[in-house]
Amino acid sequence: MQVLVVGRGGREHALCWKVARSEHVETVYCAPGNGGISLHAECVPIREDDTPGLLDFALSKKIGLVVIGPEDPLCAGLADRFRAAGVAVFGPSREGAEIEGSKAFCRDLCRRHHIPGPQAWTFSDLGKALGFLESHRDEKLVVKASGLAAGKGVMICEDYDEARKAVADCLEGGAFGGAGETVVIEEFLQGDEVSMLALTDGRTIVPLESARDHKAAFDGNLGPNTGGMGAISPAPAANPRTLKQVESQILVQAVHGLVQEGRQYQGVLYAGLMVTPLGPRVLEYNCRFGDPETQPLVMRMKSDLVPLLDATARGQLMDLSSGPEWDSRPSACVVAVADDYPKEYRKGHRITGLEDCGQDDDLVVFHSGTERRPDGIFYSAGGRVLSVTAVGKTVKAAVERCYEALDIIQFSGIRFRTDIGK
Ligand SMILES: Nc1ncnc2c1ncn2[C@@H]1O[C@H](COP(=O)(O)OP(=O)(O)O)[C@@H](O)[C@H]1O
Ligand SMILES: [Mg+2]
Repeated sequence: MQVLVVGRGGREHALCWKVARSEHVETVYCAPGNGGISLHAECVPIREDDTPGLLDFALSKKIGLVVIGPEDPLCAGLADRFRAAGVAVFGPSREGAEIEGSKAFCRDLCRRHHIPGPQAWTFSDLGKALGFLESHRDEKLVVKASGLAAGKGVMICEDYDEARKAVADCLEGGAFGGAGETVVIEEFLQGDEVSMLALTDGRTIVPLESARDHKAAFDGNLGPNTGGMGAISPAPAANPRTLKQVESQILVQAVHGLVQEGRQYQGVLYAGLMVTPLGPRVLEYNCRFGDPETQPLVMRMKSDLVPLLDATARGQLMDLSSGPEWDSRPSACVVAVADDYPKEYRKGHRITGLEDCGQDDDLVVFHSGTERRPDGIFYSAGGRVLSVTAVGKTVKAAVERCYEALDIIQFSGIRFRTDIGK
């Protein structure tokens, strides 16, 4: 089979790496891909938002399965276009992807289907939002731009003044543009975060192993939120009892709700959770694999991923004889970023040490943003540059393996958190 992966980040590199190992696959294409991806897939220069270009390519190459990585094309309806053209596609419909694309919709869905989450209120009117804050002066609140904001639209507000500013920035100041025209204000929940991903074709759910990401830019969870600075799997707070609750109260319920409301969903459903003393609570759902959670997850997955993706895309998960098999050892990913990421950053720095850092089955350097020039040398090409990922006997051992590699890998301005998994 020919497979087309859409996207250009560390997540897509991890997916291409895993898909390329499948016995069912002849060629993996990636649109547009990146330097590192070109080692495992044939990169084609078609952007994620070029729907006609992607469709033409898939039809002309007789692609048997399209796997859509990022949320933007899913929320724009790319999966619907492939499906309408008769191409099997892993990724939910535009209406299904709204579970991520609109945090306001997500909260309404949770309410309608009794899915546990923080108390939440939605506003598009500045006066009403400020009035609400006035009457909740003493509560710690979280203000969220409702739409897609590349992981940067959530403000944890320490006090009333910060909450007022966050709301005004969105509803009046145009921060986050259209994505901030509606805000969701939430009760602040205390606990341990867990990411739980499941494959679903709308009828059957196949939960994957848990993961924990690290969103803050600096050690000690300080600094602004980023796309993700590292991840480990499994998540420390994911005990079997919690996972059972998540599956029945949070994953099954959401799929049931989406399907009942006529929203087609064939892809990954990702639940971002806070495990509180009262049980797991939904912070958000995502409509795709996490980045960087996918990197440590694929390295633990022993089974072939392609039959799972393919059965999801074709609505045949029920027919699979077994779920995925996992390496019982934990895994970790440390993301190396450029200079000032997530602020302005410079690109085009030569990367050295990739050949000498000891990559093998237990250590893989996935590329998040690199370019491979004709001389075969890699250069940085994004804010997140490399996702160094390892499996080890313990989380500590896996993380140490990543840091050993990062002792050897160099590029001008390289930076990474030194406390992943701690
Ligand atoms: N209600 C909440 N209480 C406490 N922390 C929260 C809450 N909502 C979000 N957060 C924190 O903010 C981060 C980002 O929020 P999330 O809803 O996942 O949005 P996104 O990933 O789109 O930025 C979460 O990973 C969590 O650390
Ligand atoms: Mg999140």
